[in-house]
Amino acid sequence: MKKNKIFVACDNSNRSKVKEIINKTRTGKLIIGYKFGLEFLNSKNGRSFIKKIKNKILFADLKLHDIPNTCVSTIKAIKDLGVNYLTIHISSGLKALKASKKAAGRIKLVGVTTLTSLDNKSLKQIGYNKKINKLVIHQAKLATKAKLDALVCSAYEVKSVKKVFKKEIITPGIRFNSKFNDQKRVMTPKQALKNGSDWLVIGRPITKGNIKKNIQKLIKHLY
Ligand code: C5P
Repeated sequence: MKKNKIFVACDNSNRSKVKEIINKTRTGKLIIGYKFGLEFLNSKNGRSFIKKIKNKILFADLKLHDIPNTCVSTIKAIKDLGVNYLTIHISSGLKALKASKKAAGRIKLVGVTTLTSLDNKSLKQIGYNKKINKLVIHQAKLATKAKLDALVCSAYEVKSVKKVFKKEIITPGIRFNSKFNDQKRVMTPKQALKNGSDWLVIGRPITKGNIKKNIQKLIKHLY
């Protein structure tokens, strides 16, 4: 049986809590990677903790969004962490994407399309004229042009994105029920994988409450 791939979002500033998340999500039924975002990466001991992790799939969700020079310097500065995946906002522009891809070397550079916490109304507020679906396809084409290694989009866009971006697709905004928190474009794990996602990103539905029970719930839901 093919094992499904899950990035557990370790969104916490407390090292012991993150240790607990890593220990309690161990399972032979899934391929688990660990995603560290701005919260943990900026916490007092976050960086040194990540550096010491061995033999795990690691994802630095830095969401770079800056000028080419700053993106490149930042990528060089985090190389010692030994992560496998690193994110950059596609809206950083083609030049920043290409330069970052070159600087990333063996790190898989992941393009973030439009955050799963945004809907069409929020896009309009920011000043975008395109509807989400069209914008995400547009961004996916740019990611292809920049030869990025993977892409983040919601489960709603996976099918259409796969037509223009042929590498790994990573999908946050995963929920079992109607407790969406701040997410807007949400789908269940099963539906998201059915749509063609290669990796799901799941944070709070696993890390809040009883972590072991939550993992078992996920496995039961998937198999
Ligand atoms: O707790 P939850 O499952 O909503 O966590 C989702 C994770 O995925 C968070 O760490 C968030 O920063 C990240 N993410 C996202 N939407 C994107 C890109 C990343 O929710 N487009």
